[in-house]
Amino acid sequence: MINKERFEQLFNQQLIKDISEEEINIVLSGQYGRALELLRDAEATGLFPALVGPPGVGKTILCRYFASLRAKENKNKSFHWLTMDESIKPSHFIGSFDPAITLKKGFVLEAFNPGPLLSAMLEGGTFLANEINRATEYSQNTLLEPLEEASIGIPHLGRIKADDDFFFISAMNPEELSGTHRLSEALKDRIKVWIRLTYPEKSTELDIIRINLPEHFVIDESELELIYTIIEETRRNKIDIEVPASIRAGIALAKLLARRKYLEQKGEIKEKKSMYEYLSEITRHVLLGSIKPKPGIKVENVIENIIHKTLGV
Ligand SMILES: Nc1ncnc2c1ncn2[C@@H]1O[C@H](COP(=O)(O)OP(=O)(O)OP(=O)(O)O)[C@@H](O)[C@H]1O
Ligand SMILES: [Mg+2]
Repeated sequence: MINKERFEQLFNQQLIKDISEEEINIVLSGQYGRALELLRDAEATGLFPALVGPPGVGKTILCRYFASLRAKENKNKSFHWLTMDESIKPSHFIGSFDPAITLKKGFVLEAFNPGPLLSAMLEGGTFLANEINRATEYSQNTLLEPLEEASIGIPHLGRIKADDDFFFISAMNPEELSGTHRLSEALKDRIKVWIRLTYPEKSTELDIIRINLPEHFVIDESELELIYTIIEETRRNKIDIEVPASIRAGIALAKLLARRKYLEQKGEIKEKKSMYEYLSEITRHVLLGSIKPKPGIKVENVIENIIHKTLGV
């Protein structure tokens, strides 16, 4: 195990003190620029927005970027986020009493560890409730007061008012994909700006792949095009595929291909293969967990069909 001193040293070195310090490499063409504008409109009018889209279309990165802009403008206001699921209780986002201190001193402020929502409310920061439609009704209900009244009641401590700059964003996968709890009507009614994100248009997605490649990894435009063709094929084949490849899969393919080429250039690969052979190999490894076939359909067969269709191998 890492020793305590080393742990503290590394932790302090790596601690992100506020979101405005973070460098976020984001592509803002197409839907992302429009979505950012809508987030700004929502903020300016005091309305709460939701980002709705399938996995890996850039909901989180857009929120982080938006929060970092706010942080820079509003003098370092914080960004907090939490991914909801059925095991999340209100105490996870509001906060809870430390049992050891509470035992000694009772339910005093000193014993309370604030959660991410309460922190954002006090600091006037941005709170992102990721996968909000997976939260239980109990958790969803706890969000009603912060959204409607900009306040929240904390057991034993009282009711606090949020800073005027507090901002709440939610993100979710479309209900038909998530198969989880629905968003309660009461909560839905408090979210007033619905922003849909989907798989981006080609030029935007290619830019996203490029921006996510490490500097020393280079791939040609023709290779990038092929990668896009593979990814797009998973989205086109709606008969066999329930959830297609996200942007993450394209980034992964590009990284793996670029690394092979890098090693090849350095003379570290003995058995050379054609680009098509490399790409089909990599595609098998990446797509295996990146697509979800329809019930009764074998993922391996779907992948082989895609490889055959797009790469001809
Ligand atoms: N506009 C963009 N610019 C740069 N990179 C992007 C952009 N959109 C998505 N990405 C990249 O794609 C990947 C997935 O994005 P992100 O994690 O934001 O998706 P998500 O919609 O939050 O997914 P999930 O539903 O699984 O949480 C990340 O690696 C991210 O860096
Ligand atoms: Mg996300």
